Amino acid sequence: MGNRTFTMIKPDAVRAGNIGNILQMINAAGFRIVAMKLTQMTKERAGQFYAVHRERPFYDELCTFMSSGPIVAAILEKENAVEEFRKLIGATDPAKAEPGTVRQRYGTNVGENAVHGSDSDENAAIEAAFHFSGMEIY
Ligand code: RTP
Ligand code: MG
Repeated sequence: MGNRTFTMIKPDAVRAGNIGNILQMINAAGFRIVAMKLTQMTKERAGQFYAVHRERPFYDELCTFMSSGPIVAAILEKENAVEEFRKLIGATDPAKAEPGTVRQRYGTNVGENAVHGSDSDENAAIEAAFHFSGMEIY
């Protein structure tokens, strides 16, 4: 079990003014922020980030949405970080997410669901390297 995961506060949550609320939940759950930036992906870069989903019917919509405004990208540290963070954010569809999870509180629908969380230690490392150089990690 690794101790790092990668997250993005998605454009819907940034637009809604929920950066502070979500960071508050992340800190309260015991994650340490080891890297963080406000940035915007081009549609092409969003396509690279989510390349694993390129055959899925929602891929184009996902890439359009993820490049529609700034995001907050961050690397988070905690024991068993990937699994613990996915517990904190809840199910992909906010309507099915447990009460008190980030997506239940701040998500809108299955596409616009406020946050991303890596799904494995391997992908956490790949996704972190996609957004951060070694010098940006503390
Ligand atoms: P994420 O990667 O963003 O943390 O989300 P996840 O693991 O819970 O869900 P995943 O299956 O990896 O899907 C990635 C993102 O694609 C969008 N999506 N839209 N319209 C749809 O049916 C649909 N399904 C997925 C969501 O933004 C989802 O988080
Ligand atoms: Mg995923």
